[in-house]
Amino acid sequence: MPVLMVAAYDENGKVNVMNAAWGMICSEDRIALFIDEEHKTTQNLLKTKAFTVSIADREHMEVADFFGIASGNKISDKFERTGFHAVKSAFVSAPVIDEFPVVMECELAEVVKTDSFYCIVGRIVNTAAEERVLSENGKVDPSKLQALIFDQFRHDYYVSGEKVGKAWNAGAPLMKK
Ligand SMILES: Cc1cc2nc3c(=O)[nH]c(=O)nc-3n(C[C@H](O)[C@H](O)[C@H](O)COP(=O)(O)O)c2cc1C
Repeated sequence: MPVLMVAAYDENGKVNVMNAAWGMICSEDRIALFIDEEHKTTQNLLKTKAFTVSIADREHMEVADFFGIASGNKISDKFERTGFHAVKSAFVSAPVIDEFPVVMECELAEVVKTDSFYCIVGRIVNTAAEERVLSENGKVDPSKLQALIFDQFRHDYYVSGEKVGKAWNAGAPLMKK
């Protein structure tokens, strides 16, 4: 699973961030998150109709995990106590967290309610990345990004980065049989 940092403002412009492993790109410009209706972040983004999704990296694991343990419903200074910084996205009404290296800025596109979970679909309006995680051709380089991966089997964090093949290519020999 990825380790996604979902950030949104409350009705007073206060920043809140949560950790979400159940999320993925579901179209060219769409991301789907599966988040509990009780979470402060869920309530916030349903009101503001905007959120950002950052990719948590190795360097910021402690805070990323804290965002998944603490709730803004109970801890009023959840974001402030981390010492992290946020600026308002130029594209949507949601905070961009400075410390995380890649961010997708999203407007709320669709909400699907299941028993106690929402599937939140965001339209990705803009994606931004720190220079330090880019390769020479300007693409995000996983070996520089050091994105966290959540192991749902044992509840551990791993780091991604090892390239093992080329997509749309590794299976090509079997096409010729
Ligand atoms: C590794 C990890 C992954 C998580 N993934 C999700 C998830 O995909 N969906 C969800 O609803 N909660 C998930 N959580 C739990 C929320 O992050 C947690 O309940 C958090 O306190 C919610 O914060 P908030 O109430 O301030 O929004 C995860 C927590 C951790 C530690």
